[in-house]
Amino acid sequence: AKVAVFVSGGGSNLRALHAAMEDGRVNAEVAVVVSNIPSCGGVEWSRERGIPTLTYPPKKGEDGLTPDALVAQLRDAGVGYVLLAGYLRLIPPQLCRAYEDKMLNIHPALLPAFGGKGMHGHHVHEAVVASGVRFTGPTVHFVNEEFDKGKIVAQRHVRVAPSDTPDDVAANVLRLEHEVFSHVVSALVDGRIRFRDGDGVPVIVGE
Ligand code: GRF
Repeated sequence: AKVAVFVSGGGSNLRALHAAMEDGRVNAEVAVVVSNIPSCGGVEWSRERGIPTLTYPPKKGEDGLTPDALVAQLRDAGVGYVLLAGYLRLIPPQLCRAYEDKMLNIHPALLPAFGGKGMHGHHVHEAVVASGVRFTGPTVHFVNEEFDKGKIVAQRHVRVAPSDTPDDVAANVLRLEHEVFSHVVSALVDGRIRFRDGDGVPVIVGE
């Protein structure tokens, strides 16, 4: 299977996914990397490996890809699945429709808690520490037109100790993100995700 990975930052999730593909844990290849920030670490890493990259959305005032053109580019590249890995912009409805139930996001908290617009990156872990919750962890969910509101596929949890700083929490969660994202992407590209009768809750076959 061919996937597109959307990034906005360092790309550690992109790199972890790529490693899982290289060692056969995920039956897919990264056909294209998309970012709103052409100079971010994830794009630099992709360029070094000769992976094609696209900028979306285009910089203010510059021409570039419309949502329809973006979808067309992904289709032309044979992309079957879209993976948001630290991508901080809202996905246009055209892309949600084109890749319905084929587009995943990884969020660094236990949605629906600590989610929604503005809840990304370090802000999430600062809010987790400030709230006094005893557990946190990443959520993998399908993407729809609202931030962090799609159907949840998998979560992992880790204890939040009273002495934990937001940096401690971030490191604990990021490690789990890499594990759970590859686990779900593997199920998705292998067709092992089903939807529960009645409410359509995603279920990984055999779990
Ligand atoms: C991190 O905050 C991660 O928790 C979230 O996006 C941010 C960057 O991730 N998914 P990455 O290192 O660019 O994959």
